[in-house]
Amino acid sequence: MRKLIDLKAPGTAQTVTTPHRHESARQHVSGQAAYIDDVRTRADCLHAYVVKGPATVGTLTQLDLAGVSTAPGVVRVFTSADIPGHKDIGAIFPGDILLAETVIEYPLQPVAVVVAETHEQARRAAALVRCEVQARKPVLTAEQAHAQDYFVRPKHEQSHGNVSAQYAQVSHTLEGTLTIGGQEHFYLESQAALVEPMENDCLLVHSSTQHPSEVQKVVSEVLNLPLHRITVETRRMGGGFGGKESQAAPYACLAALAAYFLKRAIKIRLARSDDMQLTGKRHAFVNHYKIGFDADGRILASQFEINGLCGYTPDLSDAIVDRAMFHADNAYYLGAAHVIGHRLKTDTVSHTAFRGFGGPQGMLAIEHALDSIACRLGKDPLDIRLLNLYGAEGRQDNLKTHYGMQIEGFWLAEIIDRLAQNCEYRNRKAEFRAFNQSSPIIKKGLALTPVKFGISFTAKHLNQAGALIHIYTDGSIQVNHGGTEMGQGLHTKIGTIVAREFGVDIDRILVTPTRTDKVPNTSPTAASSGTDLNGMAAKHAAVQIKERLQQHLAEKYQVSADHIVFADNQVSGPGFSLAFDALIQEAYFARVNLSANGFYQTPKIGYDHEKGQGRPFFYFSQGAACAEVWVDTLTGEYKVHRVDILHDVGESLNPDIDRGQISGGFIQGMGWLTTEELVWNDQGALLSNSPMNYKIPAISDTPEIFNIDLFQRPNNEATIYHSKAVGEPPFMLPMCVWSAIRDAISSLSQYQHSPHLDTPATTERVFMAIQAMKQAVVNE
Ligand code: MTE
Ligand code: HPA
Ligand code: MOS
Repeated sequence: MRKLIDLKAPGTAQTVTTPHRHESARQHVSGQAAYIDDVRTRADCLHAYVVKGPATVGTLTQLDLAGVSTAPGVVRVFTSADIPGHKDIGAIFPGDILLAETVIEYPLQPVAVVVAETHEQARRAAALVRCEVQARKPVLTAEQAHAQDYFVRPKHEQSHGNVSAQYAQVSHTLEGTLTIGGQEHFYLESQAALVEPMENDCLLVHSSTQHPSEVQKVVSEVLNLPLHRITVETRRMGGGFGGKESQAAPYACLAALAAYFLKRAIKIRLARSDDMQLTGKRHAFVNHYKIGFDADGRILASQFEINGLCGYTPDLSDAIVDRAMFHADNAYYLGAAHVIGHRLKTDTVSHTAFRGFGGPQGMLAIEHALDSIACRLGKDPLDIRLLNLYGAEGRQDNLKTHYGMQIEGFWLAEIIDRLAQNCEYRNRKAEFRAFNQSSPIIKKGLALTPVKFGISFTAKHLNQAGALIHIYTDGSIQVNHGGTEMGQGLHTKIGTIVAREFGVDIDRILVTPTRTDKVPNTSPTAASSGTDLNGMAAKHAAVQIKERLQQHLAEKYQVSADHIVFADNQVSGPGFSLAFDALIQEAYFARVNLSANGFYQTPKIGYDHEKGQGRPFFYFSQGAACAEVWVDTLTGEYKVHRVDILHDVGESLNPDIDRGQISGGFIQGMGWLTTEELVWNDQGALLSNSPMNYKIPAISDTPEIFNIDLFQRPNNEATIYHSKAVGEPPFMLPMCVWSAIRDAISSLSQYQHSPHLDTPATTERVFMAIQAMKQAVVNE
């Protein structure tokens, strides 16, 4: 039988039992879900493709497009000189050049866009470009960037207490440097757009974007048209993962440029290898830390220098490095702390948002340090983690972050405790120690790590949303909102919220494609805030219509509006009950407004960037995971055998979808930390440009035992029905996999040494760490 989810209508004991599968589940699995390339195009549709520039950075000395423009099927080639408006489409700060003129700032930077009768013709033609370039030596590493003061944005600092005074007093100190790799988004649908010219110089832009309003803005700027002439529609993305927050825009702009001049529909979609080579990735980081702790392992002083490698423009990097800094503590009180974050410029594609938005890179150092502290003191890493958690030992003085935010609604001690019990952490730890004694080659590792992730955009103004609800005369309901669907189930959750407010079945609700002419001035669907923001806006719209309906009934039946409830597809009050659709008919004839727009802005938040202090987040999502890995110490190969997760979703809006986000996020995070290795050449061009040389997790990488439990305590803050955001936080749970690999390697020294292991912990890196550990034992 299908699993049913109870939907308690507010204020009643009634339940609406409706299956809540993803609104597109059937289309997804049957191939009927339409992505950009599936949209039926008009008869006049042409196809565009980017013309890539030289494979080195430098100055263009010659750009020969003759071969491109005379290739079969080509209609026209556009260069920067054809752009009537802005040539720079930087999302927040300038720098992102739509088409390069003479300066090539990263390898293959597009220099033109070619339009042809078919996609294949456009792509073949694009390859016929000839350019000559006066190359320069690129800056590619953190050391080079620091040496040349090469930054995309100024540094930022946060501090709490007197670090140097504390550090001078501590009995134990620890220093380390962690090199953290980036990550390719590998969304299944590559960057794509379809632009249709309409009357009055208007354009309808279909874009696979997390941020339709940003696409609208840059298209309008590039074409020098007011915003009201540009409409952006996003039905769904075949995955975004942050890669379509700012970086879907250039492709929509290129198609719009061609559509505007040729007065024909234009479609563009990138081939996988070009998408991989031309778009930004998760930022690689190099993080240094210094920790001072006492004999028990309590952290008293800490310093972090966080270096994000940003690529050639700021893009979203300022906010990304900030988020890394906000998460340097992960779940622990850092004592007197100083965190400095640098935004290093490198001559590559501009790196961008990716699930976790810098948070994951920020957390790794403290987790690495805690393992090292445990090893140094001969204690179990879990005990060191528990000892340093916010609020540990029932103290009050350890409940403030290094940026001055008070920690509230923090359940991690309880989550960790419950998870450790459920997965028998302590028994298995002892068992693996014994196993490792008698197993010379295969070593088992076990680790349990928590995650605390801040929910809200750290740019305050983005924490707003709108929604639009129409009820038609047959009682069917349309909802539109500012969020976009990328597979995460946002539309399903919003539909559920509206159904619950009106007390009707979900099949009465249709969530329509995101459109900038329905809900304007929207924020990106990002920062895991899609449901928190748009769900509240949708609720606000529903409540307004409900109040009008209640008012109408109150007058008709001479009862108090407060006593009228919406439940079970009925509307009832003292002495009356009528079907929802009958009420809507009646309300229409009584001239009640059946349409409303809702709005929401997140309360309580505010961070003072000057001071580096404040409350950037409304609340924290939390969770913990425990991984068991088996490492072959002859080859460095390993297998993640078992994973147990307990993740905090508040009062879940949809447990099945939340579980999907947790398992997907975990596996994607595990890929980042283990097998996904970006390889760049010495010119800054990406060599790992296809699934053949870049390994994302396969179904066979799923742990044999994979237990996911939801920790369902209502959010202590007033979010939509006290649920919690779930999109990004699970991405960081697999830190336990990385930690468990190190635990297994550490067994080679009888747990006397904690291995250094940069990420991704590929088989090669694990092999090297094993060799280093064996050497350390010999050197003793
Ligand atoms: N889940 C799927 N299936 N596809 C995606 O692209 N993106 C993630 C997460 N989960 C993503 C996903 C990222 S980066 C974010 S910020 C959130 O979903 C955005 O959606 P939400 O705010 O509705 O959770
Ligand atoms: N998270 C994700 N995307 C963003 C953020 C953030 O905090 N700020 C701006 N874009
Ligand atoms: Mo998610 S990285 O905030 O799009």
